[in-house]
Amino acid sequence: MNCSIPNELLEALRSARFVVALTGAGVSAESGIPTFREPMDGWWARFRPEDLATPEAFARDPATVTRWYEWRRQLCAKAKPNPAHRALVQLERRCRRVSLITQNVDRLHQAAGSQNVVELHGTLWEWRCVRCGQQREERQPLRDFPPLCSCGGLRRPAVVWFGEALPEAALARAYHDAAACDVFFAIGTSAVVWPAAELAHVARQHGARLVEINVRPTPLTSLADWVLTGRAGEVLPALVAALQPPDREQPF
Ligand code: OAD
Repeated sequence: MNCSIPNELLEALRSARFVVALTGAGVSAESGIPTFREPMDGWWARFRPEDLATPEAFARDPATVTRWYEWRRQLCAKAKPNPAHRALVQLERRCRRVSLITQNVDRLHQAAGSQNVVELHGTLWEWRCVRCGQQREERQPLRDFPPLCSCGGLRRPAVVWFGEALPEAALARAYHDAAACDVFFAIGTSAVVWPAAELAHVARQHGARLVEINVRPTPLTSLADWVLTGRAGEVLPALVAALQPPDREQPF
């Protein structure tokens, strides 16, 4: 594919004081983790979200819900960061300030080495008790479904389900960063799930330039200043390679 990066975009990144990247499942697709809305093999093409990703589903059938999350967790355990994750680490180093806001629950950005990650939809790697609220990292395979806390309560993955509020601090930080940035990237997200999808609109309303990286159009495409069509694992490395390190001597 042709990964030519517009010069105006490179200039905008070099002069940007603050860059925000919102990532979605498309960024982890090249690590072998299915997206949600691919027509054939996305999670929601094979399963109904209302059976697996709502508080009501968990209340009805906690064993099925936790088994499904454990299956996904084991898939993520085998997955490695791909060139898109690694290029975003480089972006953090080459731009003055970068905030990475992710809807992904796999922690592959952190595994690649990104420092400034905001997890909007929680993570599969932490589970919490619905009775006492204790939340802790869970790296070992689960044995019991549903898993139980020492207090006897049911444990659930610390992800955001449909109908639930997003983590308050992460959401506040995401809105703040979207409103403050000069360049906003939407990468590998279908941009249909709110409030994450709203962040691009917030950024634009506050004057940021919008860049979309995706294999196909989304509701953001017509609003974007630059649309880079292609796989994130190809486009992002080309983009960071084209960027020069910023001039650290310039006053902020
Ligand atoms: P989606 O599955 O909705 O969208 C994935 C996007 O990635 C699509 O726009 C694809 O075109 C694009 N894509 C696929 N492969 C790509 C690649 N190699 N490079 C670039 N783009 C690629 O996933 P999200 O937008 O992340 O929430 O979904 C948002 C939320 O909806 C998820 O966090 C999840 C889901 O239901 C919950 O579970 C609450």
